[in-house]
Amino acid sequence: MILETERLIIRPIKLEDKDSIFEYRSDKDIYKYLGWIPETVDDVAAFINKVPKQINEPETWYQLVLIEKQTETLIGDLGIHFFGKENQQAEIGCTLNKHFQQKGYASEAIKKVIDYLFQSLNKHRVITSIDPDNKKSIRLVERMGFRKEAHFIESFYMKGKWVDDLIYAMLKKEWKK
Ligand SMILES: CC(C)(COP(=O)(O)OP(=O)(O)OC[C@H]1O[C@@H](n2cnc3c(N)ncnc32)[C@H](O)[C@@H]1OP(=O)(O)O)[C@@H](O)C(=O)NCCC(=O)NCCS
Repeated sequence: MILETERLIIRPIKLEDKDSIFEYRSDKDIYKYLGWIPETVDDVAAFINKVPKQINEPETWYQLVLIEKQTETLIGDLGIHFFGKENQQAEIGCTLNKHFQQKGYASEAIKKVIDYLFQSLNKHRVITSIDPDNKKSIRLVERMGFRKEAHFIESFYMKGKWVDDLIYAMLKKEWKK
């Protein structure tokens, strides 16, 4: 599956992406709110090797990367968590190299992927889980019209401490509007 927007190609992750991904995923400004932090390029390779070959496999995270069309540069990644077999819901998470933030690329990619989830895969509901301190992500999903549905208190154990977790959601029928 390959998606295209005005400025981006969104395609499945490949092993050859490992160096570009390591560059920003090992950046402390980027991983501040992320659970997975690669220590070496080999960690990224191992991660890529575990990604399912098919999209929409129950109980897996499928991984896409974002390529800036103009420069053919890998600028970030977008993961989609597919829930159980009968569960028409998905969770998304997006990470951009800091040199490519603040240009609207994450919004552009997420919009396209959500269109795909609702229209091509007929998902019913898409959610995202965000640390309450992650202001950029909150601005992004609120701008896209996601609804804040939950603020769980110390529900998530990350990097040795319990942190709060916000859940934002969008229904297919809301997205159409
Ligand atoms: C979450 C993350 C991807 C958001 O990146 P972002 O650059 O803020 O989001 P976008 O790419 O959609 O850019 C939107 C910003 O660019 C600005 N912008 C500039 N040019 C733009 C354009 N042509 N079109 C749209 N927006 C533009 C917008 O005004 C907006 O700025 P604002 O948030 O200050 O209002 C990024 O902060 C990140 O990678 N964080 C680290 C990883 C992480 O925590 N991920 C979330 C896990 S849930």
